[in-house]
Amino acid sequence: MNICVIGTGYVGLVTGTSLAEIGNSVICIDNDEKKIKDLKNGKIPIYEPGLDEMVKKNVDEGRLVFTTEIKEGVVNSQIIFICVSTPPRSDGRADLSFVENVARSIAKHINEYKIIIDKSTVPVETSEKVEETIKRNIKDKTIDFDVVSNPEFLREGTAIYDTMHPDRIVIGVNSKKAADILDKLYKPLGGELIITNIKSAEIIKHASNSFLAMKISFINAVSRICELSGANIKEVALGMGLDQRIGRRFLNAGIGYGGSCFPKDVSAFIKISEELGYDFNLLKSVESVNKDQVQHFIKKIEKTLWIVKDKKITVWGLAFKPDTDDMRNAPSIPIIETLLKDCAKLHVYDPVSSEKAKEVLPDNITYHDNMYDALKGSEALIIATEWDEFKKADLDKIKNLMSQPIVIDGRNIYDPLIMKEKGFIYTSIGR
Ligand code: UDX
Repeated sequence: MNICVIGTGYVGLVTGTSLAEIGNSVICIDNDEKKIKDLKNGKIPIYEPGLDEMVKKNVDEGRLVFTTEIKEGVVNSQIIFICVSTPPRSDGRADLSFVENVARSIAKHINEYKIIIDKSTVPVETSEKVEETIKRNIKDKTIDFDVVSNPEFLREGTAIYDTMHPDRIVIGVNSKKAADILDKLYKPLGGELIITNIKSAEIIKHASNSFLAMKISFINAVSRICELSGANIKEVALGMGLDQRIGRRFLNAGIGYGGSCFPKDVSAFIKISEELGYDFNLLKSVESVNKDQVQHFIKKIEKTLWIVKDKKITVWGLAFKPDTDDMRNAPSIPIIETLLKDCAKLHVYDPVSSEKAKEVLPDNITYHDNMYDALKGSEALIIATEWDEFKKADLDKIKNLMSQPIVIDGRNIYDPLIMKEKGFIYTSIGR
């Protein structure tokens, strides 16, 4: 099929490339000229395992092209994906101005029947607005089109896998014609295809992400009870998670969720509910537990070290989670900012996110290219992201390199008994 994807961010680039991979002709569009120029030269703007190779392969085989021209994409495609960003405004609501702009451009260039798919995460009733905007701005009122909501569930770090092996594909649509075409488009990916009404599809996205955030805040709250009572959160989470109704995933206690989706989607869902007339108190608590969790961790650091001033402290992991360089809402940020305010000497290491970190963290930080170099003479090691290489680190080497064997682990990656045996002063979450 001929497809265009407007917005070549995380979702757009991965969606476009994956749809090319299964044999479609895809035009990826972005108004950022530098990004498009880089992509044409094979330079991928984000770190995502497997994406480089897949983009290159599909470009070489002629199924994937990049352009800044919306007209080129709209005219040549039957299916148009809207994948532009919907950033949070200061009051928590999503800023939909990019979506509106794209809808106007589509209306300007539409020349025959098209399916316009909203893949950006948007509040319920946005598809209605997109349809209305196109209808208002379209010149030839006889041209038919369908607007569809098709939320994205990919996770950063496993985006290609998630897109190529979906648990489910949600299509919110009120036209049989569009539903049949999309059924054919998605068939090669497998996964259960769920056809819903448009508003249900929009709510499925916000409700799913809010539910997962709730699971994380729940286990983080339980971790506090474990700390107060002497229980072990890992054992509690395992005992709970083996109940299939609960499930083991997303039950890792830590320093709270971050990233571009959960914080934004939870606050947007609270706002949407409020506007519809419902006070979603439960989600407000999810947010406040999350904020508190990182503050609680900072207090743990201060309690363990007593005086932070002038101490060399090493932070391993900056990205909001492993296998990504994304620093958006990373819990490492408030931790590092607080320690710097207290005049610590900060040394940091992250396998891939140092460059992005430099854009958001204060200046007086020493970045290292090797996790052990970052540790030399350090009085404390803080684990902020659970990268695999930290899990596999040589504990004896860590101890020998540090001037004090203090490890404060925000991701529970080491076994407290082993750490004790090796002579570390080890603090983690909920145990
Ligand atoms: C999430 C959703 O999973 C995805 O479906 C949606 O499309 C976008 O938002 P992502 O933000 O890439 O994806 O990350 P995810 O792997 O879901 O993790 C989110 C945050 O939760 C991270 O900060 C992670 O560290 C934290 N987390 C996750 C925990 O603290 N504990 C867990 O058990 C799981």
